[in-house]
Amino acid sequence: MTCILGIETSCDETSAAVLDGSGNTVDLKSLVILSQDVHRIFGGVVPEIASRAHLTAIHPVVQKALGEANADRIDAVAVTNAPGLVGALLVGVSYAKAFAFARDIPVIGVHHMEGHLFATALENPEAVPPFTALLVSGGHTLLLDVEAWGHYRLLGKTRDDAAGEAFDKVAKLLGLPYPGGPHVERLAAQSDAGSLRFARPMVRRDQQHGDDDFYDVSFSGLKTAVLNATKAPGAAERHGAIARAFQDSLIDTLVEKTARAVRQFGRGRVVLGGGVACNQTLVAAMRERLAKRNVQVFAPSARLATDNAAMIARAGLFHFERGIASPLDLNAFASQPIPGLVAA
Ligand code: KG4
Ligand code: ZN
Repeated sequence: MTCILGIETSCDETSAAVLDGSGNTVDLKSLVILSQDVHRIFGGVVPEIASRAHLTAIHPVVQKALGEANADRIDAVAVTNAPGLVGALLVGVSYAKAFAFARDIPVIGVHHMEGHLFATALENPEAVPPFTALLVSGGHTLLLDVEAWGHYRLLGKTRDDAAGEAFDKVAKLLGLPYPGGPHVERLAAQSDAGSLRFARPMVRRDQQHGDDDFYDVSFSGLKTAVLNATKAPGAAERHGAIARAFQDSLIDTLVEKTARAVRQFGRGRVVLGGGVACNQTLVAAMRERLAKRNVQVFAPSARLATDNAAMIARAGLFHFERGIASPLDLNAFASQPIPGLVAA
């Protein structure tokens, strides 16, 4: 068994977790997540404020996670070092390196999106490869075929806005608070389908495998459709219908692209991850669409769908067991491809 401390500071959550495990058998000993509410008043994450808030919170958050875990030893520390806000990432990376140096244990840099891939497996032992993965967060939208841990075939991504970003921008247009996803979902649930309809972006019946838009998605046109709808006469009374039409279009698109990947690779499992995987309408639509193919759809709980250090510790365990560690000059990067990419 290996005991790993995970640290996550890529955006606006300061998080630490302790996990004990071997292979796919893991025991989450503690998970502390401190969300920086300050960004709500600005309607989005302010990088400078995020970095400073991480700096204040990191030590107490790690100490709390260590205390709750009551672990007699830590074998390695895993930390998100890309992608994300560089100033925010650097707080976690610097802390993790100092921690590792002081204890003479390895530090392992983890790619934030690889962490999201592992999140569901923390709660569900069946959410392991091979599977089709749809990662939908505030910064990324990735469709992957996961043959095995560490073997990721990138099939599609967003060409503009990430799914969560689209939810947040639409929320702003509808006068809803940040982060907007849950508010848009709630408002959409109060309206019936069909009174308003937006086109499904980048979904055409004549698309074929090999076309470069077969798996990619794009949400900026949909956002413009929402903007136009909010300017139409009587729009103020139709916010529910607009939210519903937006969410239906976005979900239909994600479900269609995921179903294509499931079909092409013959997978029996779909794993969802990232903050937008909190959207129960998305999870239900995915399940309904894939049930006839006997495909199981796994989504993490809200606590593990959004940014957390448990998923980082879990991905770190995978690399540690393969003898992979980072040097003490480990750096932070705003963007970086997910490691372990195989040819599409
Ligand atoms: O993964 P995450 O916590 O942070 C990033 O790495 O970006 O995702 C945050 C995103 C936000 O855009 C938020 O609006 C969205 O997840 N989100 C949702 C829901 N809950 C959170 N989007 C749609 N429906 C939800 N229920
Ligand atoms: Zn994330």
